[in-house]
Amino acid sequence: MNVLIIGKNGQVAWELQQTCPSHITAYAYGRNEINITDTQSIEQVITKLNPAVIINASAYTAVDKAESEQEEAYLINATAVELLAKAATKHGLRLLHISTDFVFDGTKNTPYKVNDKTNPVNVYGASKLAGEQAIKAYCTVGSAIVRTSWVYSSHGNNFVKTMLRLMAEKEQLSVVSDQIGCPTHAKGLAEFLWQLAEQETLDPIYHYSDLGVASWYDFAVAIQEIAYEQAKLTKKIPVKPIPSRDYPTPAVRPKYNVMDKACKVNTLPEQNLIHWREQLRNMMLAL
Ligand SMILES: NC(=O)c1ccc[n+]([C@@H]2O[C@H](COP(=O)([O-])OP(=O)(O)OC[C@H]3O[C@@H](n4cnc5c(N)ncnc54)[C@H](OP(=O)(O)O)[C@@H]3O)[C@@H](O)[C@H]2O)c1
Repeated sequence: MNVLIIGKNGQVAWELQQTCPSHITAYAYGRNEINITDTQSIEQVITKLNPAVIINASAYTAVDKAESEQEEAYLINATAVELLAKAATKHGLRLLHISTDFVFDGTKNTPYKVNDKTNPVNVYGASKLAGEQAIKAYCTVGSAIVRTSWVYSSHGNNFVKTMLRLMAEKEQLSVVSDQIGCPTHAKGLAEFLWQLAEQETLDPIYHYSDLGVASWYDFAVAIQEIAYEQAKLTKKIPVKPIPSRDYPTPAVRPKYNVMDKACKVNTLPEQNLIHWREQLRNMMLAL
């Protein structure tokens, strides 16, 4: 089976390349090999590779910059997704598309279910929701949206690497403690996506993150503890919990974005979700 991975250099795309099962031939394409905003370019790649599945791991992911680059965010996260969805349907391919917990407004205090009302609070979330709507409108059975949250990997830029750098440079750190979600090691997400790629019948939407919940503060404290244990940091610095109002950002963040995954993920018997702390430890060993 041929699979086209779009987004080549991103965290999830990179982990997809590392974890690809041996019986699948994966082609990872970046912006130099495919222009996802151009139907002709998409058509050419599909004709050349003849994939059975496309995994769209590309996205405009700069949450704060999206507030001032709305057009670019929508172009990649919505228009391009619509073109991919239409091409997938035209060629009878299945499209696996990655979305985000930021489609929710974070006002609930229990985990979000796949069919809960969406209501993004920033441009990035709204552009990703528009991408989801394109999948729903144009894709056929066998395609799916996989929402995830707080993604990190040993490859690429992410919160874990930023924290490690700041913890090595600074005497103390303040981290937001009133945004609750769940970290996700991109490797586990990639393995989940490979399971979906091999299933002909899929639910329209899945929620995937690691187990447990955390604030950014909890996450930062765990990063420091594990880094110190693994001798990646030579000293520990004080980490202070602060409210979001003391760390203003261009994009508003939802307060509580834990996703309810149990019902969906467990339909795949091989999928054993792992607690985020354990996944974090695994990832940091690879740094
Ligand atoms: N990171 C998170 O915390 C998080 C949370 C929830 C959901 N997600 C979703 O998970 C998916 C994967 O995220 P990630 O963390 O792996 O993102 P990432 O590391 O930022 O990678 C995104 C990739 O998209 C590519 N891309 C952007 N514009 C493109 C274009 N016009 N043509 C082709 N490729 C383009 C980028 O290419 P360049 O490297 O060339 O720029 C990059 O390789 C995305 O759908 C994202 O919305 C991420």
